[in-house]
Parts: sequence; structure tokens; C-alpha cells
Amino acid sequence: MLCAVQGAAESAIVEAVEGSGGRLSVTRRCADLTELLAAAEAGLGGLAVVSGDLDRLDREAVAVLHRCGVRVMGLGDPARPWLAERLTAHGADLVVDVTGDGDVPDVVREALAVLGDGPAQPAAAPAPVVPTRRGATVAVWGPTGAPGRTFVAVNLAAELAALERSTLLVDADTYGGVVAQVLGVLDEAPGVAAAARAAGQGALDLTTLARLAPVVLPELRLLSGISRADRWPELPGSSLELVLSRARELADITVVDTGFCLEQDEMLSYDTRAPARNAATLVALEQADLVVVVGAADPVGVQRLVRALADASDRGLAHARRVVVNRVRPTVAGARPGEAVAAALARYAGVEDVLLVPEDRAAVDAAMLDGRALREVAPGSPARRSLAALAAEVAAGVAAGAPTARVPVG
Ligand SMILES: Nc1ncnc2c1ncn2[C@@H]1O[C@H](COP(=O)(O)OP(=O)(O)OP(=O)(O)O)[C@@H](O)[C@H]1O
Ligand SMILES: [Mg+2]
Repeated sequence: MLCAVQGAAESAIVEAVEGSGGRLSVTRRCADLTELLAAAEAGLGGLAVVSGDLDRLDREAVAVLHRCGVRVMGLGDPARPWLAERLTAHGADLVVDVTGDGDVPDVVREALAVLGDGPAQPAAAPAPVVPTRRGATVAVWGPTGAPGRTFVAVNLAAELAALERSTLLVDADTYGGVVAQVLGVLDEAPGVAAAARAAGQGALDLTTLARLAPVVLPELRLLSGISRADRWPELPGSSLELVLSRARELADITVVDTGFCLEQDEMLSYDTRAPARNAATLVALEQADLVVVVGAADPVGVQRLVRALADASDRGLAHARRVVVNRVRPTVAGARPGEAVAAALARYAGVEDVLLVPEDRAAVDAAMLDGRALREVAPGSPARRSLAALAAEVAAGVAAGAPTARVPVG
């Protein structure tokens, strides 16, 4: 057992364990979370007993312990009931109350009961939050080379809102979120980072999410992204998972703008505690009911798109997908660019139903300059018509599952 307990309870627990007749032993007394995680990663224990107010203990830390095969028993305090709630929200396997004077319950019995369930599954995730009102999640993803993921995400969301579907646009690009700027929103603090922080602390309720995601157009809320690339560790995958789960309660459709990369970089460093930059994209793709995969129409863009589709399917992601090729134009794809692109994708990726968005410099630039959606600036433009068609398709696709009731928040 790994013990990361503060105050008088610590020695009482260690004493109780030592007196257990060898059924349980304390293998490491940890002064803080860092020491606990290091001990867990070194395989020194199968159970961690932690104080509810252990500094920096959050959902991500509990997820790391679980990945190391360590079960988590949290200690609450009857005088501070929120500690037990927070531990449960973090995903602790069991929470027991300990009174302030160090008097402990039968920790050994409880610990053996938890361990009796078998070791934690290495990949065991905390129980997901089951939303009461289930909206759909659409992730917009695509390969490197700026094919227009953000452009498609922003305008898809704006078109869904125009169809009177309550929509939440989440900027989850950890390589530099720009959605707020594209929509001309004065963004003081990244909403997605604040939501992730609240989720990590077990405090992301519907009202908090609604407060962090202001209404930017009728029926459209925005959870703005992390524009400073060096702040990406503020969006851990385990917290985004909760944000997206809560988002299903807030909106009929959540559209997530993601990064391009699917590599699991922490696998390379063998450091399971190291935050993973691409975790946000992976989580968004895992959670999505539909992945819109965006590629660029030039030869390099098409080749990258073909590889990206193969990469996603190798990782078991994006089973339900809609392929969009953006910036279709004759100058790079020949006299009949749409046909050429469609034929290449059918041949090399087996994609038969690609949706084409034409190059539309005048309209796209005008929207960018104004910080507004295409439908506001150039409603009759060819690119807008393609995105409106995509939105109609998405709205029809999720119509069956999505409820119609509105949530009375914000
Ligand atoms: N259909 C289009 N016609 C003309 N320009 C376009 C079109 N789509 C996107 N663009 C322009 O291409 C550029 C890249 O688009 P965008 O920022 O959406 O790409 P991205 O894939 O999100 O890139 P990043 O890797 O930076 O996140 C932008 O300047 C955008 O205005
Ligand atoms: Mg982008």
C-alpha cells in the first residue's frame, strides 16, 4: 500500500496496516503527489491511500494511478463533505471518512475489500459522467498543412446554429487555438482551459460550463481555445473527456476543432505522468459520434488526407466519418477539379462520398476580415453553400438522438 496521507491520520493508518498480520503492508510513505506517482510508476504498490485535500490531486492524477494498476482509496472528512464529493469526481475507487483527530476506521478491512476486486485495469478510466440530456459530438479533424479544419469547424457550427440546433463550438487545438479570433470574439481567458480545470477538480457543472461558453450568435456558444501554444498542458485528455461529456447536456450538437497530430508522444518518453499534447485530439475523436475529416484539394493535401484516414482507422478512430476536401480549384487539380479529387480519394482511400468545398478566397477573406461566419458575410457564396449542405446533413444525421428541450442556463 502506498500512503499519501496528511496529518495525524497518517501514523494511525500506518499503525493499523502494520498490525494487520501481514495481510497488508505500507510499501511507501509519500510526502506529496509527485512521490506517490513515482512510487506507483515504479510498481511499488497496488493501492494508494490519499488524503482528500492532497495538494494537486486531480482527475488526471487518479487516471495515472489507475494506468499504473493502482487502486485509489480517498480519505474524506465529515466536517468537509465536499472532499468526499471531489474524490468521487476524481474517480477514486472508494472514499472513507476519517475524523480530524486521527481516529481511522477499519482501513485494513476497507483496503482489502478494494484490493479483493482485483488490481485496477491498467487503462481503467474513472466512471464516465452520464449526461441527462444527450447531444451529439462532431469532431473536425484533418492532417497537417492547414487544410481548413478551423474554417470548416467554425462555419459548420454557425450553420447548425442557423438551423436552430443549439450548438457549442469547442476549440481543442493544442497547437494554437484561433477560433475566438476567427469569430471576432474578444477573448480574455481560454474557456476550454477553465472548463478543463473545473472538470479536473470535479467542479464542472452545467451552469459553470454555460458561464465559460458565452453565446456568440443565436444558438451558438463558444468555448474558446488556448491561443498561446506553450499553454497546451492546460488541456489534459482526462479533463477534456469530462468537458465533452458535460457539453452533451448543454447543446444539441458540440463541434470540436482539433489539432492535426494523433501521435501519443508520452509513449515515446515512457513517462506516464507527462502530459500528452495530442491527448485532446485523441479524446475528441474517441468521443465523437461523427468525425469530419478535412483535407486540402492540392496533390500534397490529398496525399496527406489519404494517410491521415489510414492512420485514424489503424488507431480504431473515426469509424463514423465524413470526408471533406476543401479549397477545390482548377489551378491545382485540373479542368474538373472536383472529379479529379473524388477519383483520387476513391482510388487511394476507398472514399466514395467526399464533400467538396470550393476555393472561395473573396468570401473567406471577407469573413476573416470581419471576424464573422460566412453565412453572415457572404451568404450566397459557393463555399458557404457547401458548408450549409454539410450542416444540413449533420443535423439530419443526429436528429434521431438529439432531444429538443432547451436547458435554462446562461
Ligand atoms: N475554401 C477556402 N477558400 C479560400 N481560403 C480558405 C478556404 N478554407 C480555408 N481557407 C484559408 O486557409 C487558411 C487555413 O485555414 P484554417 O485556419 O481553417 O486551417 P487549419 O486546418 O485549421 O490550420 P491550423 O493547422 O492552423 O489549425 C486560412 O487563411 C483560411 O482563411
Ligand atoms: Mg486550425
